[in-house]
Amino acid sequence: MAAFTTEKVTLVQHYTDRLFRFRTTRDPAFRFRSGEFVMIGLPGDNGKPILRAYSVASPAWDEEIEFFSIKVEDGPLTSRLQKIEVGDEIIVGKKPTGTLVLDALTPGKRLYMFSTGTGFAPFASLVREPETYEKFEEVIVTHTCRLVDELAYSGEIVDSLKDDPLVGDVAPAQLKYVSSCTREKHPLEGRITTLIESGKLFEVLGVPPLNPETDRVMICGSMEMIADTKALTEQAGLTEGSNAQPAQFVVEKAFVG
Ligand code: A2P
Repeated sequence: MAAFTTEKVTLVQHYTDRLFRFRTTRDPAFRFRSGEFVMIGLPGDNGKPILRAYSVASPAWDEEIEFFSIKVEDGPLTSRLQKIEVGDEIIVGKKPTGTLVLDALTPGKRLYMFSTGTGFAPFASLVREPETYEKFEEVIVTHTCRLVDELAYSGEIVDSLKDDPLVGDVAPAQLKYVSSCTREKHPLEGRITTLIESGKLFEVLGVPPLNPETDRVMICGSMEMIADTKALTEQAGLTEGSNAQPAQFVVEKAFVG
């Protein structure tokens, strides 16, 4: 049995010269948990597909699947992927996986999702997942980018939650969104690590600092961002979990180049 299905692109939206999202049809047999990633790609010139891991940005119940991607000029996949149009075909793996899932966390009161750049993608899925709000009283999603325009996708997703068919009743009351910029003027400036270390993040939210008793954390961004944010989370006393052994925080990298 083939490891992939071929799906048709149904929507492409470009946000900046570095970021875009696209949606595709979904194979009826494709099942995933919100927060997981899957291999996707395009046929290569030599007949071998060029594949990369992408977090699914749409929730598990959606009839289509959505991805949020970077554009890298000389990236083997994204240099071509950024040119896709509605009706084009994309290869999608049949076996999604990943650790940024609710099952990998022990119960808590407050869920933090820290993201930078395209690292927001798995959280775009999780903030539209009803189980997120059943498991946590308070859900905090942060998105930090270099430039203001790069925050458009996360802003749009969070704005849409009030009209969402499944979480529209709960998300507006339970979810807080914090966006920050590092290379342009913005109401909140600075890396997420700086905001955690200085305490500014908790001040803005009006909550106490990270606490292993009450707080659970998911981290997604570049390798460096993950390493640095993970170090601060561990300093606060939280231990890392996995599918096999749920605990207080989980990390994943945004793999795509
Ligand atoms: P900065 O502008 O200070 O590099 P990128 O697009 O390079 O992945 O960056 C996305 C965001 O992540 C930027 O705001 C960037 O800040 C920030 N960032 C980069 N490295 C780290 C890190 N080690 N820890 C926290 N944030 C980081």
